[in-house]
Amino acid sequence: MDTGEQLGGLYKKATHLNQYRKDHTGLVIVDSGDLLNEEEELPESVIESAKLKAELILEVYKTIGIDAVNVGELDLVLGLDYLKELEKKHSFPFVSTNLVDADDKPVFERYVLKKVNGKTVAIMGLYGDTSEMAGKLADITGGKLNVQDPIKAAEAVVAEVSGKADYVIALTHQIANRDWVIARRVKGIHLIVGGHDKLKNQDPQVAGDTLIVRAGEKGQYLGMIEVSLDGSQEPANTLVPLGDDVADDAQIKEMIAAYNDKVAEMYGGSAEERTASADVPLRVEACAPCHSSQVAQWKTTDHAKAYATLAGKSKQYDPKCLSCHTVRFEQPNGFNMKEQQMALVNVQCESCHGDATEHLASMKPIPVADPQIDLCLKCHTEDRCPEFEEEKDIVFGKIKH
Ligand code: HEC
Ligand code: HEC
Ligand code: HEC
Ligand code: HEC
Repeated sequence: MDTGEQLGGLYKKATHLNQYRKDHTGLVIVDSGDLLNEEEELPESVIESAKLKAELILEVYKTIGIDAVNVGELDLVLGLDYLKELEKKHSFPFVSTNLVDADDKPVFERYVLKKVNGKTVAIMGLYGDTSEMAGKLADITGGKLNVQDPIKAAEAVVAEVSGKADYVIALTHQIANRDWVIARRVKGIHLIVGGHDKLKNQDPQVAGDTLIVRAGEKGQYLGMIEVSLDGSQEPANTLVPLGDDVADDAQIKEMIAAYNDKVAEMYGGSAEERTASADVPLRVEACAPCHSSQVAQWKTTDHAKAYATLAGKSKQYDPKCLSCHTVRFEQPNGFNMKEQQMALVNVQCESCHGDATEHLASMKPIPVADPQIDLCLKCHTEDRCPEFEEEKDIVFGKIKH
């Protein structure tokens, strides 16, 4: 999975797996990579919280019970050293068969063996060697890691585990059509769990003796494939939607709440400091002496409660969310993670009209006098507000001041 759907999917995953365990044995839980980050680059100001979040995700997975996670390029965004540190601290089962250091030595366990129901399952991790994939890896790690030929690397593992393992799984991190190449060229892999490409498939794809499954992106689905090693049953794959109808797992929810508190403290200070800073007047109050009617109208719009909306979801310290729910996020004179200026929360005048510092100081013209729809669409994106452009008159009418 990747963590786009943030942490919400995690406790639902836990609920589902715990339920499943009640009447099934032989569960193997894996992930094909990009567990820890969503972006190739992080602004400096969010690195500390991203580290906390990475650690939380590993702890949650350990609690759910995880057997192997392939290393994707986005898992390396906080640095190889940090990833190795976390791996050690949490005895976390990262696997990578073909990511090597400058001396061609493997950097992670190449594969793990897991005993289930008296059988042994081998799980390896593969990273794609196309120029795009290798380029991303080089950019992110500064050339610390190299990619070896995944076909040769996989063949070597299959040979090593032959006679020991009854079932061989390859977790892959590459463009989807390369999974077919691996399946066709490497004999002895029973199941490929594909990642990186954000695709999903309900029915397992069949490539010779190999099945290929994918569970999409953003933790929206949990992919569950049931296979019988004696061939008595056809493999059955389900994509379990982790929507609102799956209950939250109480233990995991508590872990996430504790993490939210830590991040709040990291950025907003102690609980008392946060209460005190919440009392500062909003930036719009500086406009009120001359534009009172506009300010009064603004206060009636949803833009005026955008920060409260995040707080209601305990997301007010998540940079992923703040970017559209504050004023000019991480731009000059805008809201930034380090300072957490409570005067600049919500979607205020300057979210649309631009930085008014000079307009206020010396009555210079405001940067954007007449905001156009393109500006709205930066926040009202196609996926969130598909009708926005069509309903231009209605939505402009709602903010008319
Ligand atoms: C001291 C009075 C004063 C304050 C305070 C003030 N403005 Fe203005 N603003 C004006 C005047 C006067 C004009 C009209 C003159 C002009 O067109 O530049 C104006 C014009 C504007 C316009 C319209 C520009 C146009 O050409 O139609 C916008 C938008 C605007 N202000 C936004 C703001 C915002 C946002 C703030 C608060 C951050 C603010 N103003 C604070 C006096 C003020
Ligand atoms: C900085 C990001 C941002 C920009 C720019 C922005 N909006 Fe919004 N808008 C939001 C957010 C966030 C909400 C939801 C606030 C909430 O419910 O807490 C919202 C809500 C709304 C709503 C109420 C919800 C609805 O669909 O009825 C309207 C209308 C709206 N915006 C219109 C506009 C228009 C028109 C523009 C451009 C002139 C615009 N917005 C620009 C972030 C933005
Ligand atoms: C790209 C800009 C953008 C980002 C990033 C963003 N939002 Fe919003 N959000 C909006 C806009 C625009 C609206 C109003 C349109 C609507 O009602 O769907 C909105 C509305 C909402 C609402 C109220 C309506 C609803 O869907 O329930 C919630 C809650 C919300 N956002 C939470 C979040 C959280 C949590 C995050 C971070 C995971 C986030 N938003 C990130 C732009 C954004
Ligand atoms: C969601 C984007 C958005 C926000 C937030 C916003 N404006 Fe505007 N503003 C516009 C648009 C679009 C226009 C031009 C169309 C119109 O008149 O509504 C405009 C026009 C104006 C004008 C020109 C005169 C007028 O009233 O037609 C002033 C002054 C102004 N805004 C001030 C403000 C102030 C002050 C705030 C904060 C309290 C604010 N705006 C918040 C989008 C926004």
